[in-house]
Amino acid sequence: MQLLKSVEKYPLHRWGHNQDSTVQLMVEAERRVYADRSKYLGDPDFYKVPVSSLLDPAYIQARMKSFTWNAATPSSSIQPGKIAGYESNQTTHYSIVDRYGNAVSITTTLNGGFGSRIVVGGAGFLLNNEMDDFSEKPGVPNMFGLVGGKANSIQAGKRMLSSMTPTIIEKNGKLFMVVGTPGGGTIITSVFQTILNVIDFNQDMQQAVNAKRFHSQWLPDTVDMETGAFTPKTLQILKKKGYRFLNFPPIGQVDAILVTKNGFQGGADPRGDDTKLGW
Ligand code: DON
Repeated sequence: MQLLKSVEKYPLHRWGHNQDSTVQLMVEAERRVYADRSKYLGDPDFYKVPVSSLLDPAYIQARMKSFTWNAATPSSSIQPGKIAGYESNQTTHYSIVDRYGNAVSITTTLNGGFGSRIVVGGAGFLLNNEMDDFSEKPGVPNMFGLVGGKANSIQAGKRMLSSMTPTIIEKNGKLFMVVGTPGGGTIITSVFQTILNVIDFNQDMQQAVNAKRFHSQWLPDTVDMETGAFTPKTLQILKKKGYRFLNFPPIGQVDAILVTKNGFQGGADPRGDDTKLGW
């Protein structure tokens, strides 16, 4: 079904049986579909095969987007697709704008992976371990390395500090951007960078989300960076001045929407299983 859907909008009949365009298109569809097969297909009695996500026309169209007529796509550059429908084991962010311009920016969390790992009997949901967002003792870091003191100490009825930054930006009273991300203590800096990427560096929404990130949170006195965030020269200049860098796995999983005069522009983070609509 994926194969048929991948080629259905093309004029195969006009190109002719086993002619170059026909073969090229079919091979490129096959490459992508078999990559999905390797990850998502198995005995449905044992494995929840995400059939409807795999057959979603928007998904299939997106899979075929990377194909160009100029050259074969190397299989090494094709991975199984990222499909919607798998839940994050901890924090999730989504940004939505409807056709009327109503916007929501929602970050929701269990805190750590699977929260407290306790499922409420009969109700089927996990309890979080949000207590970790309080400062347990002055200066003692929490699971994200964040420190605090009295202001964020544990007290009955008090809410713990959160780094979650679900954001809606308006410009001259009109919706401009919706943005947010999971990532514990790195949430704030990921949202900060995404906003700057658009406003100061003229990136489109997807470029702004893709761009490599870095993060500093006072303590520890280091700068986390994604591989390739800086050129060797920039790194050298900064290191000379005393900045200490640590290579960090992907930072954040930003989902954002920018309002443009041509409609809504989505940015879905390639670091995760995110999906965008709009353009
Ligand atoms: O509210 C907070 O700042 C944390 N509970 C968020 C945790 C989080 O983002 C986990 N990871 N991806």
